[in-house]
Amino acid sequence: MCGIVGIVGRAPVAPLIVDALKRLEYRGYDSAGVATIDHGRLGRRRAEGKLVNLERRLADEPLDGTIGIGHTRWATHGVPNETNAHPHFSGDVAIVHNGIIENFAELRAALIADGYEFSSQTDTEVVAHLVTRELKKELPPVEAAHAALRELEGAFALAIMFRGEEDLIIGARNGPPLAVGHGEGEMYLGSDAIALAPFTNAITYLEDGDWAVIHRDGMEIFDIDGNRVERQKRQSVGTSYLVDKGNYRHFMEKEIHEQPEVVSHTLAHYLDFTTGAAKPFETPFDFAAIDRLSVSACGTAYLAGLVGKYWFERYARLPVDIDVASEFRYREMPLSQKSAALFISQSGETADTLASLRYCRREGVPISAIVNVRESTIARESDGIFPTLAGPEIGVASTKAFTCQLSVLASLAVRAAAARGTITREGEAALVRQLSETPKLINQALKLAPQIEKLARELSLYKDVLYLGRDTSYPLALEGALKLKEISYIHAEGYAAGELKHGPIALIDEKMPVIVIAPHDRIFDKTVSNMQEVAARGGKIILITDAEGARHATVETLDTIIVPDAPEIAAPIVHALPIQMLAYYTAVFMGTDVDQPRNLAKSVTVE
Ligand code: M6R
Repeated sequence: MCGIVGIVGRAPVAPLIVDALKRLEYRGYDSAGVATIDHGRLGRRRAEGKLVNLERRLADEPLDGTIGIGHTRWATHGVPNETNAHPHFSGDVAIVHNGIIENFAELRAALIADGYEFSSQTDTEVVAHLVTRELKKELPPVEAAHAALRELEGAFALAIMFRGEEDLIIGARNGPPLAVGHGEGEMYLGSDAIALAPFTNAITYLEDGDWAVIHRDGMEIFDIDGNRVERQKRQSVGTSYLVDKGNYRHFMEKEIHEQPEVVSHTLAHYLDFTTGAAKPFETPFDFAAIDRLSVSACGTAYLAGLVGKYWFERYARLPVDIDVASEFRYREMPLSQKSAALFISQSGETADTLASLRYCRREGVPISAIVNVRESTIARESDGIFPTLAGPEIGVASTKAFTCQLSVLASLAVRAAAARGTITREGEAALVRQLSETPKLINQALKLAPQIEKLARELSLYKDVLYLGRDTSYPLALEGALKLKEISYIHAEGYAAGELKHGPIALIDEKMPVIVIAPHDRIFDKTVSNMQEVAARGGKIILITDAEGARHATVETLDTIIVPDAPEIAAPIVHALPIQMLAYYTAVFMGTDVDQPRNLAKSVTVE
């Protein structure tokens, strides 16, 4: 989940590398570092914490040199301090790495036995020493790097540089993404095309097992056996500017407020509001012909998929199996040849989701993905993609990507229902009309901010919070708990309200608020019964509902947040807003780092 950059340039590269790392900080922000070669001298600057610390360091002690590599870290092996920060050196070799070297313990033991000394606790340092060991066998740098790569197991994207070689960077990929950028007399390497966007939009993506020999005037790509391979050069559409916060305090706040617009764009991409029909967008499978849909994703994307399951099953009568991708990838699920697989990912780079996709590829089922980053690995490896039009999401906590994923899923469910004949033409038009109201309703929901901010002040005083919901509000309860814990660090759990009496009711007392998400739907009364059970045990209830729900909720609440009345299919999207705002304002009161919460990264490219 680290970000890596390499430049073989014509001008001093350190400032360019830092600029590229700024675009990669979403991948990790535990430490950062840059190394360059300047007139035969290998130099490096590293700093613990965010990139801004490295910038200060470089301002005090600049680095010259027209070739260099850089890194922003999400710690896996070794605490996030300066010693463990990349680049790592061994003799004449400098290296940056994203991923996990799974056989690092045995490699490290063997290297120590050979007399190598380790200065860090990282798995990366073994790669640097391995390359040095090969160099000592009189192998030229390119061959030494290749020999070292053959010893590695696990997931890696690497950039390797050699003292004495001021026109050579080796890039290697096995798992995490790596892109080579083509310039005029300069070449670049980066974890994604957006990192390189200010320099070039001519990009070649390495495939798993590829390694590239990069010089100023071009590059060659080889497979792990050393055979030349050709990879397509593409024009990236990655935006070159760094998105800013505008007048908002945090990216998360800005992204919450962007939702009416991006949800509107996303829905309009899939639905024709004039004819009241799902647009005939391309799908890699026929909804009418499949008998099951298998959905895998992680985190918030998984929870979007869980809402989608209710929609596909309810409207299209299409059974959906949904799994967190880290489980799906190993559980060897048999897939029927009449099924299709759907993956959901904002980044399109999540390692477990990608591995699940590859499992389905081996099983021979058609693969599609709901992705926000259209050039991502998941997008490229899918038979077809359903883009979310959320724009770049910078805050680690997913907000607008979530509601856009829901918008795509709702649209696909309508499309599937029409294709399978489980709704009439009038029914389709009604659902499309109801979904068309969503942007207006979420815009109204944003006006709840002052009430939610006040409530958040109180919520920030608690240590534990329980979220409850039924039907599509159950995934929302899980999402509410996830959002609160990830940015405020308050412990929170989400439960299906009906499960309350099967265990979590034992936790209820006045010290644990219970947030109940309950639009006035077909099972509202059941949820009211669960609220009664909470109230009877002294629990404090915060109810998120609509006006009708507030009228019928016969239970005392600490606070009731009344969201705009929404049609059933739009309700989960509208109810997502207060959940996000509650987590956001609570985190602000707690004084946490809202956009870059501790221990997390935006894109999880390791297992
Ligand atoms: O990029 P992806 O959508 O695949 O990411 C999946 C999760 O890592 C992500 O949704 C994570 O749970 C968010 N930080 C939640 O806010």
